[in-house]
Amino acid sequence: MPRRGATSDSTGSDVMAALDSSILLAFLKADGEPVSGDRLAKELGVSRVAIWSRMERLRADGFTFKASTRKGYELKSVPREINAALLDAHLRRLKVSPAVELLAEVDSTNSEAERRLAVGQEAPFAVLARSQRAGRGRLGRKWHSTQAGNLYLSLAFRPFIPPERLKPFTLWMGLALCAHVEKSLGLKLGLKWPNDLQSPDGRKVAGMLTEARLDADSVRELVFGLGLNFTGQPKDFPAEIRATAGSFEAALGEPIDINREAAAVIAALFQAWEQFEEGTWSRSFRKLWQHHDVLAGKSVRVGLRGDPIAGIVDGIDEEGSLILRTGGGRKTIVSSGEVTLRKP
Ligand code: ATP
Ligand code: BTN
Repeated sequence: MPRRGATSDSTGSDVMAALDSSILLAFLKADGEPVSGDRLAKELGVSRVAIWSRMERLRADGFTFKASTRKGYELKSVPREINAALLDAHLRRLKVSPAVELLAEVDSTNSEAERRLAVGQEAPFAVLARSQRAGRGRLGRKWHSTQAGNLYLSLAFRPFIPPERLKPFTLWMGLALCAHVEKSLGLKLGLKWPNDLQSPDGRKVAGMLTEARLDADSVRELVFGLGLNFTGQPKDFPAEIRATAGSFEAALGEPIDINREAAAVIAALFQAWEQFEEGTWSRSFRKLWQHHDVLAGKSVRVGLRGDPIAGIVDGIDEEGSLILRTGGGRKTIVSSGEVTLRKP
């Protein structure tokens, strides 16, 4: 691997992984109806025994199937963590064409994507991991990455676009993700400039980290990293983020199908990239920004280096920089920094 839309991990051979994915794809297509083992064997060109033994293996990975002697099998439940075969089946269903690879563990998916770009892997591609040893956020901060049901994902591109075109990229990817999540799960996320996604109660459910390699007139390599908490109640998070971190499931109050959502997020992000590359993103940017921006009209302090600037947020400019109304009605443009909300 990787092949088109494939996922693999360190647990089995590529052939078996492909067979597992095809079996699961048949169950997804059946949409809860029974699937006949005989028919499956014929369709996939393997023996009935091979299907049976792969299903045993899938059971060991946390899938449950109900056998009904005459009709076949029904898929009853799926694992609560990212599973290579199931993720692949969903990606195939969504016709995601770039390579997508799942690793059991890695230092950082952004670093892994950079290494793969450096050795010439064909882009675009995605790499995700069940856990990261050194997941990182902006400004060298730590991204807690130990829950196998959450998303630690990087998308890699070789864009060859002028560096200045990149400025609104992270915000656009965040907005496209917000639009997707509202449509698919009915959950309205907030985007806190420049890189946080929040649940409606203000908890951080995701963070984005864009890293690029530039030369004088072009972006050569681009990596978009996303850490997204599908699962986890506050008590499940490490003490230092317990008061601020959230998850989709905590916000929705119900479990979600992690692998289906992961595949849908990957598909939505690749589509957002296409729109960015061809320039059509700007048609929906402003409307989405107004819908998901959580800072509009808020009194904030923005700091990076030196003295923080205080002001009232008055939107963003064409490049995605924050516009602040500071003392005496002055307008200050801030292109990067860390926003702290001030108490009213
Ligand atoms: P800003 O609002 O400026 O983005 P931030 O506190 O969100 O500030 P970032 O650098 O964007 O800082 O993100 C890193 C921070 O995210 C960490 O310092 C930690 O507080 C928080 N964090 C780390 N891991 C997770 C996680 N798995 N889920 C939610 N939040 C996390
Ligand atoms: C932030 O909020 O500061 C950004 C967090 C980004 C975390 C993701 S997880 C996948 C990718 N790999 C990393 O090491 N970081 C990003």
